Parts: sequence; C-alpha cells; structure tokens
Amino acid sequence: MSTHPSAVPVRAMLVLGTRPEAIKLAPVARAMTTGTQFEPIVVTTGQHREMLHQMLGLLGVDVRVALDVMRSRQQLSELTARLVGELGEVMRQQRPDLVVVQGDTTTALTGALAAFYEKIPVAHVEAGLRTGVLDNPFPEELNRCLIGRIARWHFAPTRRAARHLTDEGVPAEQVFTTGNTVIDNLLWVLAEGSGTSAFRSGAKRILVTLHRRENQGERMRGMGRALGRLAERGDVEIVLPLHKSPAVRESLLPELEGRAGISLIEPLDYLDFAATLAECDLVLTDSGGIQEEAPSLSKPALVLRTTTERPEAVEAGAARLIGTDPDVIVGAATTLLDDPAEYRRMARAGNPFGDGQAATRVLAQLAEDFAADVPVTVAAPRPYSTA
Ligand code: UD1
Ligand code: UDP
Repeated sequence: MSTHPSAVPVRAMLVLGTRPEAIKLAPVARAMTTGTQFEPIVVTTGQHREMLHQMLGLLGVDVRVALDVMRSRQQLSELTARLVGELGEVMRQQRPDLVVVQGDTTTALTGALAAFYEKIPVAHVEAGLRTGVLDNPFPEELNRCLIGRIARWHFAPTRRAARHLTDEGVPAEQVFTTGNTVIDNLLWVLAEGSGTSAFRSGAKRILVTLHRRENQGERMRGMGRALGRLAERGDVEIVLPLHKSPAVRESLLPELEGRAGISLIEPLDYLDFAATLAECDLVLTDSGGIQEEAPSLSKPALVLRTTTERPEAVEAGAARLIGTDPDVIVGAATTLLDDPAEYRRMARAGNPFGDGQAATRVLAQLAEDFAADVPVTVAAPRPYSTA
C-alpha cells in the first residue's frame, strides 16, 4: 500500500452491527464529518436489528451499506461465517483505506478478519480490555484477543488496557491511550438531548439490564428471583429494559412478569436511556457499556458477573463485582439502598474511563499516520515478539 495523498480524504469504513458499537463509534463518525480529512463509510451488518436501528441517528452520517444478517436465535458459528463472506464482498466493492471496528462483538471480529483478508489496515477502538479468562465473557474475550492480533492501530481506553496489549507483544508505537468513546457520546447526548426517564414513582430507583450469553438460563432466572425479592421491599421501583434476545426474555419473563414494583420495558433509545440512568439511584447490570457510563453520572453499579474487563471502576470504588448468586445480589443492593455512607462512598468515586475527547484523539492519530510520509500497511512495522 502506498502513502496517502494529503488532498484526498482518507476513506474510513466503520463496521458496526450491535447497539453498543453504534453508541461507541458514533463520536468517531460525527468527528469525521466535521472536517475534510476523512470520508466515513458506514457499514451496518444487522447483527442486531431493532436495537441497532434505534441508535443509527447518533452517527450523524448516512449508512452506506446495510447488510441484513440477523436471524432469530443465531448461532455464533453461522453468524461469523455469514459476516466474513458478506463483509469481504463489501470491502472489495468499496476499497476503503482503513477499516474501523469497536470492541469485541462478532461484527467487530469479522470486520477485522475480512479487512485482513482484503489487505486493508484495521483500527481497533476500545482495544486491550481483558478479563484473562478466555471463555468469560463468552465469546467476547476471545474476540478482542483475536482483533488485537490483527489491528494496525490499537486505541485503548485506559493505561491498563494499553499495557495488556504491549504485554502481549503489540509494538508500543501502535498503542494509543485515548479514553473510551462511550464517555464522549454520553456527554454529547446529555448536552444535546432531552430524553425522558422511564421511572414513574418517587420510590428508590433501580435500573437493571441483563443480557450476557454466559448468564442466560438458570443463572439469569436466579437474578430474576433476586430482583423479585428486592421489589417485595415495597419502597423500590425497578426498571428493566429487556434485551431483544429471546434467550434473555425466556430467562426473565417467567420470574418477573406482572410483579408490583418492576417495569419490564422495551429497549430504550439512547436519549431516554441516558435520562433514565441520570435519574436512577442504583444500577444492577451485566453490561459492559453501562459499567462505564454509571460512574460518569455518579451512580453506584453492581456488576452481576463473575469477571469484568473493566476493573478500573471496581478499583476506583464506583462499581462492585458481585457475581450472580441471588442472596449476594439482594444483600449488596440492600446495603446500598439502606446505608447512605456506603452509597455516598460509591457515588463519589468518579469516572476512570475518559474525558469525552477519545474520538478526537483517535482521528488525530489516524490523520497523522495517513499524512506521514510512510506507508500505512496491514502488518506491524516490526514483528510481534515471540519471546
Ligand atoms: C451481542 C454481543 C455482545 C454485546 C451484545 C450487546 C457478540 C458475540 N456478542 O450479544 O458482546 O454485549 O450484543 O447487546 O457479538 N435480537 C433481536 N433483535 C435485536 C437484537 C438481537 O431479535 O435488535 C436477537 C437475535 O436474533 C439473537 C439474540 O437477540 O438471537 C442475541 O443477539 P446477538 O447479537 O447474538 O447478541 P449476543 O451475542 O447475546
Ligand atoms: N442502552 C440503551 N438502551 C437500553 C439499554 C442500554 O441505549 O435500553 C445503552 C447503554 O447506555 C450502553 C449500551 O446500550 O451504552 C450497552 O449495550 P449492551 O448492554 O447491549 O452491550 P454491552 O455494553 O454489554 O456490550
């Protein structure tokens, strides 16, 4: 690949397919529209359907190519195979100068892999997150490790994430600590928008989201029973926007449908979700993105998982990793509802995930490298360490 002529915009293909990818790539897409250095080419895979469409308005740029790969109860292997094939074809047609992927989804992995096959360099946003347990979260930990072997630019949200990459042998000059673009988006939306909170009463407000594959089934049913017990206190309002996944709904609905104090609602668009988060007292979640957003709004977060790739919030004291045992969930939530000192301690811990300028840093680095008089190639300038 040759050097890039500076008068010609860099054609940057943003590949996204799920709700969190749209949210976290939106600041990058919006920033690309403010100058002439980049031409954003947005490709949606349709890994998610309704939950992705809800978020596309955030991008500030039209979708160039919309694939339609989602199938009900899709299996990872068939989704992966379909996506590599279809994305490869799109890349051959569009011939972008680089492909940008975000995070650790099947869309992100296949976007990176198809780009590698087409010899197009890859930029990875939210690089370097690790739990250190290859099958937890499943399959995301493996996905992000694999993308880490493919990417040419690694945009790590924190110094710890950057260190994971250099420890794995990624050349330090290809790793950039930027903050997480989710904070850019949250601050932008709170400044721009006027969403409507889903809470209705003056009771103590608990916002819950659950969707992880490794929690679906009996574990998630147990979490549902824990929420039922919390609602029985009578002084709480629990709002739970249900993920569209049938496996999630089958786990939670039998435990929670029709219970007083619990509102089971459809996924909220981002404006309304941000308003709901801003109004809640406490967050219970297995989501990645919400672990990052809650501390920005001074909301204590209980993480209903056995591992987290975001230990920064736990170490700062803004989040607690409490696992999936129903008794522990009820106990930890009860402490925060009833102990103002403990509540204040968590709420004041602060946000370790960025200052809202992550997308600007990503684009500045890409612009610098494409303008420099050196070829931007797929492979690292020196080989990965084999030591
Ligand atoms: C995926 C990501 C996960 C991310 C999550 C965000 C992978 C491997 N996992 O989870 O990292 O945290 O998205 O939400 O990529 N569905 C609909 N409508 C929608 C969205 C999904 O009906 O708008 C259905 C799908 O048909 C599917 C199920 O929900 O059967 C789960 O969707 P899928 O993309 O497979 O989600 P996860 O892998 O659970
Ligand atoms: N979110 C939303 N509406 C909802 C639930 C979540 O906009 O009803 C947003 C939330 O603010 C966060 C993102 O979706 O930015 C998280 O997505 P999800 O939990 O599906 O995926 P993860 O972050 O775990 O990959």
